[in-house]
Amino acid sequence: MVSLSSLNSGPLTGSVRVPGDKSISHRALMLGAVALGKTHITGLLEGEDVLCTADAMRAMGAQVERFENGGWEVSGVGVGGLLQPRETLEMGNSGTAVRLLMGLIAGCNIKASFKGDASLSSRPMKRVIDPLSQVGALFEASEGGRLPLTMQGAEDPMPITYELPVASAQVKSAVMLAGLNAPGETVVIEPKPTRDHSEKMIAHFGGDVSVSERPDGSRRIVLKGRPELKGRDVIVPADISSAAFPLVAASIVPDSDVVVTGVGLNPLRAGVVESLKDMGADIEILDQRTEAGEIVGDVRVRYSGLKGCTIPASRAPAQIDEYPVLFVAAANAQGQTRFEGLEELRVKESDRLSVMAEGLKASGVEVEEGDDWLVVHGTGGTARSVPGGATVTTHLDHRIAMSFLVLGLAADNPVSLDDASPIETSFPGFQTLMESLGAKFS
Ligand code: S3P
Repeated sequence: MVSLSSLNSGPLTGSVRVPGDKSISHRALMLGAVALGKTHITGLLEGEDVLCTADAMRAMGAQVERFENGGWEVSGVGVGGLLQPRETLEMGNSGTAVRLLMGLIAGCNIKASFKGDASLSSRPMKRVIDPLSQVGALFEASEGGRLPLTMQGAEDPMPITYELPVASAQVKSAVMLAGLNAPGETVVIEPKPTRDHSEKMIAHFGGDVSVSERPDGSRRIVLKGRPELKGRDVIVPADISSAAFPLVAASIVPDSDVVVTGVGLNPLRAGVVESLKDMGADIEILDQRTEAGEIVGDVRVRYSGLKGCTIPASRAPAQIDEYPVLFVAAANAQGQTRFEGLEELRVKESDRLSVMAEGLKASGVEVEEGDDWLVVHGTGGTARSVPGGATVTTHLDHRIAMSFLVLGLAADNPVSLDDASPIETSFPGFQTLMESLGAKFS
């Protein structure tokens, strides 16, 4: 356990680049491992979650190497060529790694076991076990469909048509990855569009994926099975989910002016920018460009007094990981902010709805929590700031940890964490990067 506190800080200024996108990093390693030839990855996130994926791909026969210049090379085994891992795959904290790998393995005739930390072992896997069983994989899971879990991939994987019961890019991706080694067409229908990095990355590696949008806003994704994927170059943009921390910090610490460079702005991920704009944030996108199929830009934020508003449920999939830090923005806004459509927050690395509500209350912020909504009463426009002064339990959740550290930067009293070590999951170097902007920690 590493305790850490953030302190009320002066203006945050400067230009920084946050680490690579976690979702894209996992997918680059996995697809590189089932492509033929070499994949070179630039900007891979070297956080604990992604390193678990790298180890798992090695355990299943791919060669995964890091060069001294920070580049990574994966030599793949081809679709269907994964080897049976000799030992249990250690997935740490990573829901994305385990769910996507379950998909990849479901289409191969190999057996694998997974375990993870206490947070991951409490997360529901039934949402992937259900469709992957239809593909033909067999599962022996712990009570409630959780980790530790052993699975046997299908001998003759079936191409399935699956309509997602929850808006989850992980479930969608698991089905698509299983479909890579099934004959014929695997179809996923998603009622609400979720991040499309798997679709884009499979196409980038030479797979055949078509996506059609239907009038009701749902999407139909069709993947042709058994493609010959070829090793490719992948450039990983900076993670918008990590950029959200300095961006919100600059929005709430008076007189700040911060640029976060090279941020991935895929429209299915960039809800946080819209929400902050709705709250009156002064955000500009500079030099928007396309790199390796993803929209990227430098995001500049200058301090502005935020205002409360309603953040609609329809935006949830595009900012699902950014709610904790958006609640922190709301705590500093003038008036009430109402967040709707938050049911999925309850099954993240922690129950982010109740953990955030509790920590905010302990920091002197008034909140009302419903099953799937939260109202935050902000202190903006009043004579007082957020009182702070709490010690928050992070529950092995990196985003809870970083969100409360951002809260402390604009609070009257320090905000402390019982354990800051989960930050390594997704944002190695968080403290140093924030300090380079002027943030104070003790
Ligand atoms: C992810 C999808 C989201 C997100 C997670 C990464 C992905 O999870 O919360 O951090 O890379 O596909 P869900 O699919 O559970 O919404």
